[in-house]
Amino acid sequence: MRRPGKMHLVAYLKTGPTASFASGWRHPAAPLDDIWEPSRWENLARLLEAARFDCGFFADGLGIPDLYRDSFADYIGRGGQASLLDPMIVLPLMARATTHLGLGATLSTTFYEPYQLARSLGSLDLISKGRVAWNVVTSSYDAEARNFGLDQLPDKDLRYDRAEDVLAACCALWDCWDEDAVVLDRKSGVFTDATKIRYANYEGPFVKTRGPLSIPRTPQGRPVILQAGSSPRGRDVAARWAEMIFCTVATKEDGIEFCEDMERRLRSFGRSRSDVAILPTFSAVVGETESIAKEKAEFLQTIIDPELVMASNSGLLGVDLSKMESADQADAAAGAKGSQGSRDRMRQRAKADGTSYAEAARKARAQLAGTPEMIADVMEDWFKAGACDGFVIPPTTFPMTYEDIGRMVVPELQRRGIFRKEYAGRTLRENLLNPG
Ligand SMILES: Cc1cc2nc3c(=O)[nH]c(=O)nc-3n(C[C@H](O)[C@H](O)[C@H](O)COP(=O)(O)O)c2cc1C
Repeated sequence: MRRPGKMHLVAYLKTGPTASFASGWRHPAAPLDDIWEPSRWENLARLLEAARFDCGFFADGLGIPDLYRDSFADYIGRGGQASLLDPMIVLPLMARATTHLGLGATLSTTFYEPYQLARSLGSLDLISKGRVAWNVVTSSYDAEARNFGLDQLPDKDLRYDRAEDVLAACCALWDCWDEDAVVLDRKSGVFTDATKIRYANYEGPFVKTRGPLSIPRTPQGRPVILQAGSSPRGRDVAARWAEMIFCTVATKEDGIEFCEDMERRLRSFGRSRSDVAILPTFSAVVGETESIAKEKAEFLQTIIDPELVMASNSGLLGVDLSKMESADQADAAAGAKGSQGSRDRMRQRAKADGTSYAEAARKARAQLAGTPEMIADVMEDWFKAGACDGFVIPPTTFPMTYEDIGRMVVPELQRRGIFRKEYAGRTLRENLLNPG
């Protein structure tokens, strides 16, 4: 079943000059002199809001991937998608510059405690007036674990068990204050109505927190929960908790299969397909004419650094691609690491292109190059076929991808009546769930 309503668009962002398109920073028109300037992020937020995106979301990791050749040198040396700033410092700047754009933060349940998470996300939800999404991740490479006192990542199932415990604890903390607990009456001296604030007293298998949270109830009550795991356990966590689900399927048919699988899982948790927005990643190069788009795409191919692709894909797959050949080998070696969604996508890509897994795993991600109409045709086709509820769009070239999409593709989607012209609600949840 297709979810009722219009398409949703989310920007996939990093607090650095490269996102998932390897070597994006090398494009001569991509600015590099403002990475640490607030204006870069404020302008980006305004750009996304003018294009009526639901949300700008920062992907994040707590280290530098170093699987490829047992070193971080190729990844960071060649410009992998690194966080050069803590996204939680950048998001308030973006909140300040906008009024409706959703603000997505990625925070790990494996390494952070619920109180920290609830406080930080709650504060952002308060100052943004209810526009926060939390990408609940369990982290995916050992370099992250080593920054938090562990030699390697715990098993994936264990990480997901802890994630659910942390989520439940955060929800208990976010419920400590009633909506009307804040009084601020100078005359009577009543600052808050303390009878409307209570302990959380949460105790689960992994985490324990008493509360109350020190910050009041937020406009959304709790942030929009976002989940992007594709393993069976990851999908169940998404089906139980998430309102926004990211995936990384290779073809429309794989998208339909993913949505159907999620619908079954949602039902098993007493939820329905319309409770979540499922958004696959989608990479596009737009041109005013087809030949301009093709020329842009061809140029992008010339700046790709093959060694960076290997280092990046090693991180996604959780294996050192300098040593791996087949999908089975890669699966066996990955263990607790890497992303099932990325392994699936490479398998799907190999099948669709008639190549081997080893070849697919060594390739940069495919992009669709075309006119606004051609790009909108594909987006509409996926959307109407029930392969998605919209898309997560990474930049190939930052910020031009969003300028091009905002100037050319969004008006075309709006003309077709499948994308909003104005935000229907004020909070991110209202915009995400609103069918109009
Ligand atoms: C669009 C997208 C964005 C993601 N962003 C992050 C991220 O910022 N940080 C992270 O640790 N994992 C990220 N992931 C990975 C997932 O959250 C998940 O941890 C990973 O896929 C491993 O779980 P799985 O094996 O269940 O798929 C992302 C996945 C997708 C599809």
